[in-house]
Amino acid sequence: MSTQRTATLTVDGKTVEFPIMKGTHGNDVIDIRTLGAKTGLFTYDSGFLSTASCQSRITYIDGDKGELLYRGYPIEQLAENCTFLEVAYLLKQGELPNLQQKLTFEKTIKTHTMVHEQLVKFFQGFRRDAHPMAVMVGVVGALSAFYHEVTDFSDAEHRNISFNRLVAKLPTIVAMAYKYNTGQPFMYPRNDLDYTANFMYMMFGTPCEQYKPNPVLVKALDLIFTLHADHEQNASTSTVRLSGSSGANPFACISAGIACLWGPAHGGANEACLQMLEEIGDVSRVGEYIKRAKDKNDSFKLMGFGHRVYKNFDPRAKLMGKVCADVLAELGLENDRLFKLARELEKIALEDPYFIEKKLYPNVDFYSGIVQKALGIPTSMFTCIFALARTVGWMTQWEEMLTDPEYKIGRPRQLYIGTARRDVPSLDKR
Ligand code: CMC
Repeated sequence: MSTQRTATLTVDGKTVEFPIMKGTHGNDVIDIRTLGAKTGLFTYDSGFLSTASCQSRITYIDGDKGELLYRGYPIEQLAENCTFLEVAYLLKQGELPNLQQKLTFEKTIKTHTMVHEQLVKFFQGFRRDAHPMAVMVGVVGALSAFYHEVTDFSDAEHRNISFNRLVAKLPTIVAMAYKYNTGQPFMYPRNDLDYTANFMYMMFGTPCEQYKPNPVLVKALDLIFTLHADHEQNASTSTVRLSGSSGANPFACISAGIACLWGPAHGGANEACLQMLEEIGDVSRVGEYIKRAKDKNDSFKLMGFGHRVYKNFDPRAKLMGKVCADVLAELGLENDRLFKLARELEKIALEDPYFIEKKLYPNVDFYSGIVQKALGIPTSMFTCIFALARTVGWMTQWEEMLTDPEYKIGRPRQLYIGTARRDVPSLDKR
């Protein structure tokens, strides 16, 4: 007797059965791929509230427990024991690197950190005050015009080179976007520095003075990268998968992911959160803003609160709160006004029945803005930092999709509710 679980659906008296697919952890899924053929019906799930768009081996989130696993490893353990590049290797290869693999991978990434000199001209085409995310969308997309010689994506080596190039060049491009904005000269990468120290050097160094990255701050930023490296099928990752499903160039797909990430409901929330804290300004006004967040007639939301999947504490927010405290202590900013305000806001919201009932907890973006501000990163650059780190996840997910034997171009269906068929009247009858 078959042990395959099935789901039965009755439509107009006719019964059809669908297999239930089992995952390692989490919700099992009903395989409805034959639904249209069997019943002539589609499912409706705008916003993908109950739809798994793929099978994946990369990242698992248990929203009720507040658990995040990369390739099976809890984020807390990775944060404690691994660098961002080790985590990047893990996500891409499925296993943590041994010492030799780690050194080889770091060396490989270093050999790709420079960008084509011609790319400087792209920056010069932008207004100095352009939002750096707008610049990122353009410049990262433009890389597809530079690396057109390795575009056979059925070739594993071509995909590998694209991964290495993107992971290596994103810090250079993010730093260039910042330098262009401030009017300072671009700093070429220094391959004697580690990935994150080199990024800080390109951001904050100038040709006039020697810049020595502070190891405590480098470690904090490296951890921020780790916390943002992947988050399964979120909006930007799904965008990268959907763009890539047509066989498009990966640099263009990552540019699409960056565009999606920019929105305030997604990666733009860290920027929006800091702006919100500045607007609240003082602990005495927290109550007023909590009231606004609960008011159905007010569009205001507590930025950095709530998540589609986490209905418990976002584990990344806990780690981020700790990094925030460490960085502020290192810089002697323990009494930072915004940090105190954030702590108070978090405390009040966590005790408020509205937030308790709706299971709204701080997410990764709640403290990340405060840490980044303390590191000297301007607010408009926050989402670029997120994009830099998430490029690892995007490229890993892109690779997984292209090598999936069940891979097909993404093509959702719709429920058409527009005007019924009609004939075009002649001009004098309109
Ligand atoms: N403040 C006040 N109310 C909220 C908030 C909030 N931050 N988030 C959700 N709610 C309410 C919402 O109004 C809704 O109420 P009701 O049931 O009465 O209509 C209920 O909680 C459920 O929210 P939802 O908007 O239906 O949930 P969603 O899963 O569609 O949205 C979210 C998730 C993250 C977009 C949303 O919580 C939000 O806009 N949060 C603020 C922005 C933010 O911090 N985004 C970062 C997400 S984490 C980083 C990332 O992965 O990109």
